Amino acid sequence: MISARRLGPEDWEIWRGLRLRALDQAPEAFGTTLEEAVGADSPSHWRAALEGAMTGFVVEDDGVPAAIGRLLIEVDPDAPVELISVWVDPAHRGRGLGRALIAAALDHLAARRPGTRLRLAVVETNAPARRLYESCGFAVIGPNPEDDAELLMEHAGAR
Ligand SMILES: CC(C)(COP(=O)(O)OP(=O)(O)OC[C@H]1O[C@@H](n2cnc3c(N)ncnc32)[C@H](O)[C@@H]1OP(=O)(O)O)[C@@H](O)C(=O)NCCC(=O)NCCS
Repeated sequence: MISARRLGPEDWEIWRGLRLRALDQAPEAFGTTLEEAVGADSPSHWRAALEGAMTGFVVEDDGVPAAIGRLLIEVDPDAPVELISVWVDPAHRGRGLGRALIAAALDHLAARRPGTRLRLAVVETNAPARRLYESCGFAVIGPNPEDDAELLMEHAGAR
């Protein structure tokens, strides 16, 4: 069974375990390096990754934590919310965990900030991620002005 839930700061060890594996397994997909994360490795660092503007999610596959992602929700209600840090354990890919993660994030946003634009940045050549996002209702809105290699996508239902 696939089930998604929120991760609070008290869940930092789950987040740490999966995030370090993500940075090791798919370094090309993320702006943070494994070395940076290991260099900052402390309970307070990992707690901070799941509080304040950051809302974390995990997806479990038959009770095994296997996918993560976060929403970055700025205090400014007019600012677009960002979906970041999306990763699925390779052993659990192609089973709908990515889709379940995005559904949980969209549900959370609809409850907390209905009508808010949801954006993300994706490496242009990352075909699996682009297909996942497109299949969940995101569309490319242009290049990422902060990174030549990336595109910005926005959730169609929120535009
Ligand atoms: C991209 C990623 C999150 C997909 O996770 P996943 O759990 O395998 O995705 P799902 O099983 O939920 O797939 C949902 C849809 O995404 C698309 N998709 C997923 N993997 C794909 C692949 N390898 N090739 C083409 N399309 C793919 C398909 O449209 C799929 O729908 P379908 O199964 O009905 O065809 C995963 O491959 C991953 O973690 N990649 C490395 C990290 C990364 O790139 N993160 C994104 C950073 S922006």
